[in-house]
Amino acid sequence: MNGVFRYTFGEPESITPIKLFWDDARSRIIPGREEDTAEYNPPLDPASMRFSVTARGAVLTLPLQPDEQIFGLGLQLKSVCQRGRKKTLRVNSDPIADLGDSHAPVPFFVSSRGYGVLVDTARYATFYFGTHVRRGISTNDTGKRGVATDTAELYAARSYDEGLHTLIEVPAVKGIEIYVFSGPDIAGAVKRYNMFCGGGAMPPMWGLGMWYRTWGQADRAGVERQMAQIRADRMPVDVFGFEPGWQTHAYSCTYVWNDDKFPDHDELIAKLNEAGFRPNLWTHLYVHPDSPLYGALEPTAGDYKVWGGIVPDLSLEENRRIFRDYYKSYFLDRGISGFKIDECDGSDFIRTPWSYPEQSQFPSGLDGEQMHTLMGMLAQKMLEPAYREKNMRTYNNVRSSGAMASPMPYVLYSDLYDIDDFIRGVVTACYSGLLWTPEVRQSHSEAELIRRAQTVVMSPQANFNCWMIPHPDWKQYDTEKNRRGEFLDDGGVFEGKLRKIFELRMMLLPYFYSAFAEYMRTGLPPFRALTMDWPADRETYAIEDEYMCGSDLLYAPMTHKRSSRSVYLPAGKWYNFFTGEEYEGGRRYEFAPELEDMLIFARENSIIPVAEPLQYVADDAVFKISPKKFGCGDAVCRLFEDDGITYDYERGEYNIVTIAYSGGSYTVTREGNYDGKRYEIILP
Ligand code: GAL
Repeated sequence: MNGVFRYTFGEPESITPIKLFWDDARSRIIPGREEDTAEYNPPLDPASMRFSVTARGAVLTLPLQPDEQIFGLGLQLKSVCQRGRKKTLRVNSDPIADLGDSHAPVPFFVSSRGYGVLVDTARYATFYFGTHVRRGISTNDTGKRGVATDTAELYAARSYDEGLHTLIEVPAVKGIEIYVFSGPDIAGAVKRYNMFCGGGAMPPMWGLGMWYRTWGQADRAGVERQMAQIRADRMPVDVFGFEPGWQTHAYSCTYVWNDDKFPDHDELIAKLNEAGFRPNLWTHLYVHPDSPLYGALEPTAGDYKVWGGIVPDLSLEENRRIFRDYYKSYFLDRGISGFKIDECDGSDFIRTPWSYPEQSQFPSGLDGEQMHTLMGMLAQKMLEPAYREKNMRTYNNVRSSGAMASPMPYVLYSDLYDIDDFIRGVVTACYSGLLWTPEVRQSHSEAELIRRAQTVVMSPQANFNCWMIPHPDWKQYDTEKNRRGEFLDDGGVFEGKLRKIFELRMMLLPYFYSAFAEYMRTGLPPFRALTMDWPADRETYAIEDEYMCGSDLLYAPMTHKRSSRSVYLPAGKWYNFFTGEEYEGGRRYEFAPELEDMLIFARENSIIPVAEPLQYVADDAVFKISPKKFGCGDAVCRLFEDDGITYDYERGEYNIVTIAYSGGSYTVTREGNYDGKRYEIILP
């Protein structure tokens, strides 16, 4: 691909993300993609790369300039800037420190100098970004002369700025293959990486509505009660998720409905669909002996069991096909919109570590380490084609992911729950082609639930995971009381506050959908770090608690931990999205908003398309959209319009609806090949 440079050192591994996923990535049609014909010079000089093989594995060093900052490595909940850090990319669901363990580590990083590097490996590679200095390199040691006596002084001598490099160690291999992506800037390199992987994910429109996951112990009557409750309360919800209890056995899984708890489940699923809910099923990949899939998958499974089930080898297309065909006829053809693929990560940091060990073996030749790295991606690549074969888009959850994930319509989530980590997750995921939801579960106070809800609606997936409580949390946020069925007695005040937040999501849905269309077409992440839009502004590099939602809204989440916060607004004028109050950018402000108020800022001379909130996005839903304009100059906004549910947009069946404001008046134009109309534009 233009602007991508591959370097091979030694004898590279045979099982890698690119080798497994390349054909699939290339087969994805990317409509409206502009051919990039520019000439690029290699961003890194190959003469400056050093490679060696040791008894431990292969080592590659790359140059690192004194002013360079590094971002990426997948979902990193504890840090955004990676310079000065050492990280080992191990798939793990409960990291306890900032050492690289993650649900979704990705051996891809991007530099503030405007290039990206993908190390094509399924091994637990370690990255050192400017942490150590080799002997024989002269450095301007800035440490004090004399004998250091306290720890700060002792270790301060490390602040070298010469002789530092990026060191990458890949264990148990004799070679390394890297791909270097040209920029010209941070966003450019990330976009090029995402397009290389097959373009950005394009969810169905309903996938961007509200998600509600029901109580793990709910039965059919309980589900029907909740469905009715949601609609009676007029709380917008699009996706209704079932947790493990829908099956005859979990953990491990049979993938068979439990008819005692869910008699006539097909009828229930039909009812859900009729009421505008898209049913979504929890699963994981460990196959129980009673499962109809067991016999076919057992001969090629790994040599360890997990929760009594086999670990299927999804690196084999035959096995992906076995799963896919079963899912298609038992779930997709019967109205299931998507899945939550849980526990494809594994955990070592809890009291009872679970999953298969790294040295476990699969007959195909993979070991446990490679399988841990690849399992989340293999699951995604197994399932999504089944929807594609039906020409029906899907949006899912997955708990592990990795390299080449950009086109996959899956959103990462976690059992961890620190709100600052959850916000940082949105910022870090965007650098490596991942989507992350700071999902809402239980809370300890009204403030906690409100603040978490505000943030989740400004994220790739507005997910309320109520699997631990029998009643919706707008009835009672206190987990214990919710379990006892004691509802809030405030005349619906709390529920009203939450409804307002849910409705905000629905008002911004066409705007978010259009940001995803841009992701699909150009690779620009819909939710992203400020650094991507202001690469020359170094102040943005370390910001881990603000992000852009689409191109024109900046969101600075408030959390229940604080009553005020500092917000950096980049250069230019900014406007409070709700009040229109103006701020001069290029500086910080201190804000102390009321609990119900959110810090959302619109860019100068932007138009935000604001929709009348729907309860859910029916297949034929039409959004009534009013432009909300900020700043006094001319402005333009472009909406992506298509059927919202199929892949027909890949054949060019979409429109671009342009709302332009110029010289005091608005114009609306619609261009493209989609003959339906999803947006009705209401001009002031
Ligand atoms: C966890 C998952 C939760 C919930 C739970 C059900 O692994 O992260 O969201 O689904 O399983 O058992």
